[in-house]
Amino acid sequence: MTERLRLINAVIKYGDVKAVDDVSLTVRDGEFVFITGANGSGKSTLTRGIAGLLPLSSGTITRTERLGYVPQVEEADRNFPASVWEIVITGTQGRGGLFYSMGSRRRALQAMDELGIRDLAKRGINSLSGGQLRRVLLARALCGEPELLLLDEPCAGLDAESHALLFSVLRKNVASGCAVIMVTHDASDLEGIHADRVITLSHGRIVNDE
Ligand SMILES: Nc1ncnc2c1ncn2[C@@H]1O[C@H](COP(=O)(O)OP(=O)(O)OP(=O)(O)O)[C@@H](O)[C@H]1O
Ligand SMILES: [Mg+2]
Repeated sequence: MTERLRLINAVIKYGDVKAVDDVSLTVRDGEFVFITGANGSGKSTLTRGIAGLLPLSSGTITRTERLGYVPQVEEADRNFPASVWEIVITGTQGRGGLFYSMGSRRRALQAMDELGIRDLAKRGINSLSGGQLRRVLLARALCGEPELLLLDEPCAGLDAESHALLFSVLRKNVASGCAVIMVTHDASDLEGIHADRVITLSHGRIVNDE
């Protein structure tokens, strides 16, 4: 099995406060890992650290470059003046503007079809509902053909149909070797889902990993 992520003794601080405290974690291809824990336990900080959006205060991280990251939707800048299509295609990591390759365009369309958002292509992202925006951000993450997919609370606000769609898309990616790390503070997200691992954070530390 190939390692997609290895964190060793990772610490992430805001000022003097350790939001992630001595976390070690290895995730391999085809693993589906849930991270749970109470509000403020450090889940988003840990995922931002893994995504490279926050530096580690100490410890080391090794991970694949082929990363797809879906932030907690509250963090997305909805006023950013872009259409759904423009946002999705940036996930292909091709060259910008008029210069996206046919391959990038095809992958972006495929991801939009898979998530049922093709008809939203021309809409501004500021006009979307929360659940629609979440699908857009997921399509963006998927069309880069990630080896590691990081999802921060992707289920919040999803209806039952979208929830089922999300998990079928994630399962398909896991089956083809993608590693998925999914944050949720809601244990009911885990019902009926076979998770390889559930990691629980408390005050920035891993208190359970099974
Ligand atoms: N930008 C910031 N500056 C200072 N402290 C922060 C910042 N972001 C988060 N924190 C603090 O770090 C800790 C972890 O926050 P984090 O957002 O990672 O928690 P979380 O587990 O994702 O919570 P939630 O379930 O509410 O999304 C909290 O105590 C929070 O107040
Ligand atoms: Mg969070």
